[in-house]
Amino acid sequence: MRKKLLLGNWKMNKTVSEAKDFALQTAELVKFAEEHNVLVGVAPTYLCLDAVKNNVSGMIVAAQNCHFEDNGAFTGEVSIPMLKDLGINWCLIGNSERRTYDNETNEKCNKKIVKLVHNDMVPVYCCGETLAQFEAGETKNVVESQIREGLANLCEKCISKVVVAYEPVWSIGTGKNASKEIAEDICKFIRDILRDMYGNAADEVLILYGGSVKPDNIQAYLSQENVDGALVGGASLKIDSYEAMLHNLVK
Ligand code: 13P
Repeated sequence: MRKKLLLGNWKMNKTVSEAKDFALQTAELVKFAEEHNVLVGVAPTYLCLDAVKNNVSGMIVAAQNCHFEDNGAFTGEVSIPMLKDLGINWCLIGNSERRTYDNETNEKCNKKIVKLVHNDMVPVYCCGETLAQFEAGETKNVVESQIREGLANLCEKCISKVVVAYEPVWSIGTGKNASKEIAEDICKFIRDILRDMYGNAADEVLILYGGSVKPDNIQAYLSQENVDGALVGGASLKIDSYEAMLHNLVK
């Protein structure tokens, strides 16, 4: 059976001391998550990874991005060996903000994902359509290309280690969340594509919904068969609201 996963994406928020402060308050929630068989994690900025990692126990600490080369003349970038050296084993790839502002293409995401998997790291691959694409009825075409191109060149064994997050761009940070029916429809669609690409290993892949997830709507998403968890921005920043989501998720 697939586990449930609650993952906070802190984006460009929190100083090192604020991140450390959050980390120091996680013991209770990690205990609760373990008792209920839920995986919990956060994705802080690069600067905060070490402080968070050193002050949590039993929590996933993910980077928000990485470069596909090990080292070289790439000013401002961080490589996979650098993350691994800090004990970081998870990494978000292709969040819509990176696609929009940093020219992150499916092909570039794929290079990073293949490299992460070969380094025994877990990529959390984000996909999702824009408002214009949603309104034009192009959601499935867009998501299918993102999945087929972004998750190409992996093996059946590798794919089960990948996490996918469906985040419709129009629902991110807008308070306009997709209905639980839309979330289920697209998450199931993603699983079907993965089954077509990699066979039954698709049933082991964790598929998350993301976009304006809050304590009062998380349970509706998680009650759907193909939604295994949530990737949460704003509501993951405060410990109280993070904890409330965890408690509501298992109800
Ligand atoms: P919000 O939960 O703030 O809408 O952000 C979603 C997101 O982009 C997580 O990666």
